[in-house]
Amino acid sequence: MDARIFANIDQLSSAALDGLLAIVQESVAQRGRFAIALSGGHTPAKLYTLWAQSERAGRRTPWDRVHLFWGDERFVPFDDSLSNYRMTREALIDHVPIPDANVHPAPTGLESPEAAAQAYESELRKFFGAAPPAFDLQLLGLGPEGHTASLFPNSPALEEKQRWVMAVKAPARPPDRLTFTPAVLNLGQNTFFLAAGADKRGIVSALRKEPDSGQSSYPAARIRPSGPVIWFLDAEASG
Ligand code: 6PG
Repeated sequence: MDARIFANIDQLSSAALDGLLAIVQESVAQRGRFAIALSGGHTPAKLYTLWAQSERAGRRTPWDRVHLFWGDERFVPFDDSLSNYRMTREALIDHVPIPDANVHPAPTGLESPEAAAQAYESELRKFFGAAPPAFDLQLLGLGPEGHTASLFPNSPALEEKQRWVMAVKAPARPPDRLTFTPAVLNLGQNTFFLAAGADKRGIVSALRKEPDSGQSSYPAARIRPSGPVIWFLDAEASG
């Protein structure tokens, strides 16, 4: 585990932002764009706020080349307090000059989670064309039982080899969610896991001991892309 340990969430977020900005510049130089799969929950909110508000980020982010996607989303309306899109809109999107066409939220307004998953996969296929869905950077969180995105232990989505987006039932509120599958997440050019707080210490310790077999019962341990994976941890989560 390539872990970087920080005293608190502010320093963790600032370091993650520096890493993100370096990848923005590399991706735009190499591919003309920066496609990021954002994570939800609480941990990344500070990073999104810093990305929106810091002067260094504004100077180094060509917003017209940035494309935002979400690695998972709760099947709730865009303005629901549980929506990952809403959290990101409030922390980041409302404060930066990113073109509307570059913001790709999961279509949670459709009639069912399955319809939304199929539509979101179509949007990914349209964006990546014939190329594999290899995000320039994917941000991932970590749940205390080892979930990441909305891939929870024993989820059928963990074994999916073809589909890129699936509708899943999560043992969390709200249960209906959309998630990228490992078929996408294992292609990431760069991956940042962000984990903070004492409630993550147990799972971080377990993951550190987990053999790199690809068969782990912890979904986070099943994300093993060929590109760099960096863990940004605060002191409480790192133990
Ligand atoms: C979600 C997330 C999920 C999250 C973890 C950690 O939609 O909830 O994408 O995978 O990253 O549950 O959440 P916290 O950052 O709130 O601890």
